[in-house]
Amino acid sequence: MKVGIIGAMEEEIAHFTHLFTIEEKYVLAKNHYFTGNFGSCEIVLTKAGVGKVNAAAAAQKVIDYFNVDAILFTGVAGAANPDYEVGDVVISDVCQHHDIDASPLGFSKGIIPMFNGPSLFFADEKWRAIVKEAAEELEGINVFEGKIMSGEQFIADKTEVEKLRSLFGADCVEMEGAAVAQIAWMHDVPFVIIRSISDKANGEAPVSFQKWLYETAERSAAIVTSSLKKY
Ligand code: ADE
Repeated sequence: MKVGIIGAMEEEIAHFTHLFTIEEKYVLAKNHYFTGNFGSCEIVLTKAGVGKVNAAAAAQKVIDYFNVDAILFTGVAGAANPDYEVGDVVISDVCQHHDIDASPLGFSKGIIPMFNGPSLFFADEKWRAIVKEAAEELEGINVFEGKIMSGEQFIADKTEVEKLRSLFGADCVEMEGAAVAQIAWMHDVPFVIIRSISDKANGEAPVSFQKWLYETAERSAAIVTSSLKKY
């Protein structure tokens, strides 16, 4: 089993580099890819950069160049579900782009127009179960399975996040998951997005994000690590 582990930022992948021995380093399309082994899995780790274009490029690379069997995306997110608190964990049930909008052409917001595929991308059931089990082993942490919505914006506005909640049923918002999910879907590669809540995507989000980024990212990384051990 070869697993691609992708995070957007240094803080989201830093936790892995001391966990497994990096065997080889590659520079592809100006990004670093690290290969090694962990438990019974081969690993390809990369920091994609922020945003859906970077995430899609990295997902495509781990599939085409490294032939991964699955992708786990790890990081933080802003809560859209009012039940979620900073530190809670969200495992993707389904992912969708929230900023695709061809409504002038008659397509509902969030629907990818003229695409030979869906607009909702469902995470792999088997990996989801493994990740959920791993997450639930962390004591005192709320674990949710939810709808992860991605756009090219850092959401820091109560009205905006409430709109994403009412329009799409978003549980959390981030900037990469749906892009990874779409590329994985195109190649029939199983994927799961693992996010810990760093903020509530409201006016306090920038401060909350900075404050909690490292700690909450570490939580997602720990879940990925114990998921790999379980595989
Ligand atoms: N990642 C973490 N918090 C976020 C937010 N509020 N908006 C977009 N991406 C995020």
